[in-house]
Amino acid sequence: MDLEGPSTNKMSRENAASQSPQPVSYTEIESIIRMAMTAPSGDNCQPWRFTWNDETLAVFYEEQLGHHALNNCNHATWLSLGCLVESIGIAASGFRLRAHTRLNFENWQSQPMGVIYFTREQMCTDPLISEIFRRKTDRNLYHTTPLPETVIQQLKHEAVHYPGLHFSYKQGTPNALAGFVGFCDEYMWSNRRIASDFLHWVRLSDKEETESKDGMSWKSLGIQKADLFPLRLFRRLPFLISWLWKLGFQKKVNQTTKRSIQALGGVYSIAVTDTQPAAVVSAGKLAFRLWLLLNSEGYAVQPMSLPSLTAFDVATGHAPPNTEASALQRFKAGYQELKAYFGFAENQWPVWMFRTGRAIDPNLAPITPRVRVQDRLKVYTRDLPRV
Ligand SMILES: Cc1cc2nc3c(=O)[nH]c(=O)nc-3n(C[C@H](O)[C@H](O)[C@H](O)COP(=O)(O)O)c2cc1C
Repeated sequence: MDLEGPSTNKMSRENAASQSPQPVSYTEIESIIRMAMTAPSGDNCQPWRFTWNDETLAVFYEEQLGHHALNNCNHATWLSLGCLVESIGIAASGFRLRAHTRLNFENWQSQPMGVIYFTREQMCTDPLISEIFRRKTDRNLYHTTPLPETVIQQLKHEAVHYPGLHFSYKQGTPNALAGFVGFCDEYMWSNRRIASDFLHWVRLSDKEETESKDGMSWKSLGIQKADLFPLRLFRRLPFLISWLWKLGFQKKVNQTTKRSIQALGGVYSIAVTDTQPAAVVSAGKLAFRLWLLLNSEGYAVQPMSLPSLTAFDVATGHAPPNTEASALQRFKAGYQELKAYFGFAENQWPVWMFRTGRAIDPNLAPITPRVRVQDRLKVYTRDLPRV
């Protein structure tokens, strides 16, 4: 598929001419991208670059940023792309613009991963737009108060609009999954590549945090000040992780997992019936809407990707490289536990899971910074504001 070639330009030009009387302005596109860049990405790697040529918005994938030990078969990228595309659609609705997206799953190394054109329409602004800048990952403890039925119904109502996806919400602590979630958190630290990747993206000082506009701040991960020094040491000398594992580090990891799985209102998961990239992108779109919806109702959200996405990778034959046979078995067994817990049928494949609940202190989780729009958006346009 030649997404940059003349055919696409012709298609978008014809559409733009017939359906969009007033061209989309630079200011509109800049605002849409500013909002879209707040969409979540794994480790806040923000692997996107955009071009705007007065008619089409092209989304390019920066593979070196998206290349993670846990991004097997690009599943994490497809989820992030779903979040991004949905956020573009929501942001565009604020300008009465409908976003039409064409994704490219084949040759995105040389072509855009997505091409979007807009039509101006009499349409309502998506009410979730008000949450775009407020949405965040909250990794703190939550109240254990159950979610009200009205909120659960709203989540289910959103999911109905996504054919091929299945949504399941379970109230309360997922005790049946505690063993598997505990195994996953231990696995993260026992696999040198995964641990190193994580440590690469964590900002372990205020200086690192202010100098970078990607990655995750130690504060947002709930890391205590006293743990910053050993983590910096692990980053430089990863072999120390296994040395210190039995000397208290394992206990700390186990305690953290136990606490976070106890302190929540419930967990939810999205399953696909088709495991191809388009379905995973669709799961990302739905996940993003549910995230905004829960945040708008005052509920905190945190993805739990290892027991869901990585287990999905293993179950679909894309395990992280060098996973030992015993770990593969545990992931496969855990995936079945996950399916059973959420009541998914044999042909429904959970791909992402989240914990949610009322935040104990909504201000505790910081807003994670993003790179500047001008560093990621290249514009070839008539109406660039003159300086
Ligand atoms: C595909 C994907 C997987 C993620 N997995 C996790 C996870 O397992 N645990 C977690 O705490 N956050 C996870 N996140 C959240 C990101 O770390 C977060 O979105 C990013 O750091 C930006 O922060 P924000 O969501 O507060 O804007 C994931 C996000 C994406 C898109």
